[in-house]
Amino acid sequence: MSDLFSIKNKRFVLSGGTGVLGSSIAKYLVQQQAKVVLLGRSIDTLKAKQNELNALTENSTHIFSVDIMDEAALRKVRDAISQEIGTIDGLVNLAGGNIPGATLQPDQSIFDIQTDDTRKVVDLNLFGTVLPTIILSELMVQQNFGAVINISSMASKQSLSRILGYSMAKAGVDIFTKWMANEMASKFTDKIRVNAIAPGFFISNQNKKLLTNKDGSYTERGHDIIKNTPMARFGDASELNGMVHYLLSDASSFVTGSIFEVDGGFSSFSGV
Ligand SMILES: NC(=O)c1ccc[n+]([C@@H]2O[C@H](COP(=O)([O-])OP(=O)(O)OC[C@H]3O[C@@H](n4cnc5c(N)ncnc54)[C@H](O)[C@@H]3O)[C@@H](O)[C@H]2O)c1
Repeated sequence: MSDLFSIKNKRFVLSGGTGVLGSSIAKYLVQQQAKVVLLGRSIDTLKAKQNELNALTENSTHIFSVDIMDEAALRKVRDAISQEIGTIDGLVNLAGGNIPGATLQPDQSIFDIQTDDTRKVVDLNLFGTVLPTIILSELMVQQNFGAVINISSMASKQSLSRILGYSMAKAGVDIFTKWMANEMASKFTDKIRVNAIAPGFFISNQNKKLLTNKDGSYTERGHDIIKNTPMARFGDASELNGMVHYLLSDASSFVTGSIFEVDGGFSSFSGV
């Protein structure tokens, strides 16, 4: 009988694959004997990560330096992947994040918003997922299979204070996920699935300053999040691995257009 959860020797492309969550997911996939193709901007960071992962499993990791907002460069990477690596079994869109200018300070209101930085955040978090998905799913259509995982957020369905641009973009990622899932299944094949994971709160480079003080203690916002998370803690990056594995494997063959919360209960709790 085939193993529903087997991802051995499968090849997965990870955008933002050297970030906090991307690194953790890449390491997990390599430990499962899958191969990873990391996309990132800094070739030095990519090479360091490649060495680290190849030390775990030889020849497990390919790297391509690319700014995922650059459509022409992404197309070149798609062609290089096709020629040098062959088919791909999945794409995980992890590139994204907030920027300080798009975050309101606690004493500011909507009237203080910096529209330029807010637009940049919308662009990165929305089109930073839309572009790689469309461009790499062309390969999936040619080969007639593939699984895409987008990364949504707790900020996509209810208003989280201070981060309007990020929230609008992640809400866009949710509807893009459903739209793309429908497009693939109804016009091409039921073998290409598009889903999203909405992580709760995991301390990372982009939210560290919002959630923790320099001495490591939690900020007021950090405490508020813990108070509204039934499990009363932040997530550990490794706690996304199970959902990623499920969505990339045949175990989820009838699952598409869905958004899965991995959040310690945050989104199911009213705060009362
Ligand atoms: N950490 C959390 O709590 C959390 C919660 C919900 C959602 N997310 C989402 O998960 C994803 C990964 O987050 P993370 O915590 O690992 O953040 P991170 O900042 O550690 O990683 C993001 C990566 O994306 C890369 N990147 C940014 N812009 C790029 C571009 N134009 N081209 C190529 N690469 C680019 C960065 O260099 C970085 O390596 C993001 O979409 C984030 O919004 C994170």
